Amino acid sequence: QRLLVEMMPDAEVLIVSNREPYIHNRAPDSNKIEVQIPASGLVAALEPVIRACGGTWIAHGSGSADRETVDANDRLPVPPDNPSYVLRRIWVSDEEQDGFYYGLANEGLWPLCHIAFVRPLFRESDWHYYRAINERFAEAVVHEAKTDDPVVLVQDYHFALAPRMIRQRLPKATIISFWHIPWPNAETFGICPWKEEIIDGLLGSTIVGFHTQFHCNNFFETVDRFIESRIDREHATVTLRGEETLVRAYPISIDWPPKALAGQAPVAECRVAVRRALKLADDIKLVVGIERFDYTKGILDRMKALDDLLTREPQWKHRLVFVQVAAPTRSRLEKYSKLQEEAVALSDDINQRHGDGSYKPIQLIVRHHDQKEVFRLFRAADLCIVSSLHDGMNLVAKEFVAAREDERGVLILSSFTGASRELSEALIVNPYNTREMSEALGTGLRMPDHEQRARMRSMRRQVREWNVYRWAGRMLIDAAGTRRRQQIIDIA
Ligand code: G6P
Repeated sequence: QRLLVEMMPDAEVLIVSNREPYIHNRAPDSNKIEVQIPASGLVAALEPVIRACGGTWIAHGSGSADRETVDANDRLPVPPDNPSYVLRRIWVSDEEQDGFYYGLANEGLWPLCHIAFVRPLFRESDWHYYRAINERFAEAVVHEAKTDDPVVLVQDYHFALAPRMIRQRLPKATIISFWHIPWPNAETFGICPWKEEIIDGLLGSTIVGFHTQFHCNNFFETVDRFIESRIDREHATVTLRGEETLVRAYPISIDWPPKALAGQAPVAECRVAVRRALKLADDIKLVVGIERFDYTKGILDRMKALDDLLTREPQWKHRLVFVQVAAPTRSRLEKYSKLQEEAVALSDDINQRHGDGSYKPIQLIVRHHDQKEVFRLFRAADLCIVSSLHDGMNLVAKEFVAAREDERGVLILSSFTGASRELSEALIVNPYNTREMSEALGTGLRMPDHEQRARMRSMRRQVREWNVYRWAGRMLIDAAGTRRRQQIIDIA
């Protein structure tokens, strides 16, 4: 953490993201203002970084009480309990939100980049709002920046155009853009009607980061196909109109030890407490899945695998329960509301066929959980299943590993997550292959203690060493190198 601050001691840090790290909502029953931390891998990863460096985080104010908590300049010192940086909120109207966030970002770019066989939708009006909101955030960066060469960390597919817009206004800024979701191959990206503008926008950055080398390669291929530029694969750079952008893989991670572990009861106590709260017998095997209710996460697929296991090995009935916690997300979009309906119907059907009396093999809990609750559940579980159909990284897998100080518990992990490149001691599965996933469930449930320990120990070592400070640190080291070279050029 100290290293981050020392890396560029004179640099001012600004973050640009759609999701804000703290959402203020007015509770409907008590009318009190409550703070919520959103279910977002991006927020989970960046918050510890900006806590360590200080600076300004510019994000969309989305909570019902957000306007009441900021000052006249829309600023708020956070974290609420111990402020160490400033949150600057940007307001977006409902109409703009429909076009920018629901439309272009989540009905266009999200399905385009996650190959989950959901057709991306591209509407001219959404593009208009996407551009307008990118402009608004770029202007806010200029407004908030106290120096002419700040370090600006632009986050994710909501802001592909902002890097170029910031570069035009602050030519000396060090702009690091991180794309938190996968980048598809050129053929797939070519579907996007505004591919050239999006690539040009991103290439306004000093650095463009992805989770894996595979996504970098796809990006190079896409640039090569659609834009007149010079690509140097050996040095991992793209030069466009004389300006160079470094394109590298920086696998994102979590803080270590995670904040959510502080004050947690020992694993054995969590086991008992969670089983009690869920009304499960002490010896029941607990399988958990925790994420946003998103069609890329393969939630139906893992339910089908459980169904297959209970059909082939009925001795597991009454001996295991699968708890799926799903935080509602983007519910206004048809694909998301439909997924929720399908998941409820499928879990009811499985419970009816394999359950009896009070025994239900699946408990589907649809609500937001705070990080402390999530970690408690992880500590209580025998097995955690992450079956994304495609996922940039997936931090749930890393959080599960971090929660298991007892070096127990089995992780089933989709081979289509970035995390599977690092956590190779998980049981790696293809979520499209129901039988394979159901066999992995059986293997996991039967896995002897010493094997769990060996696998968990190795995964914990990986996450501990490659924690989020290292993710940010590696990007900042690369950025510091570029800054130094630029300063020398300026002097010369
Ligand atoms: C993914 C994206 C993030 C996003 C998060 C939650 O992790 O990469 O940018 O914040 O999903 O989605 P939401 O639409 O609720 O912000």
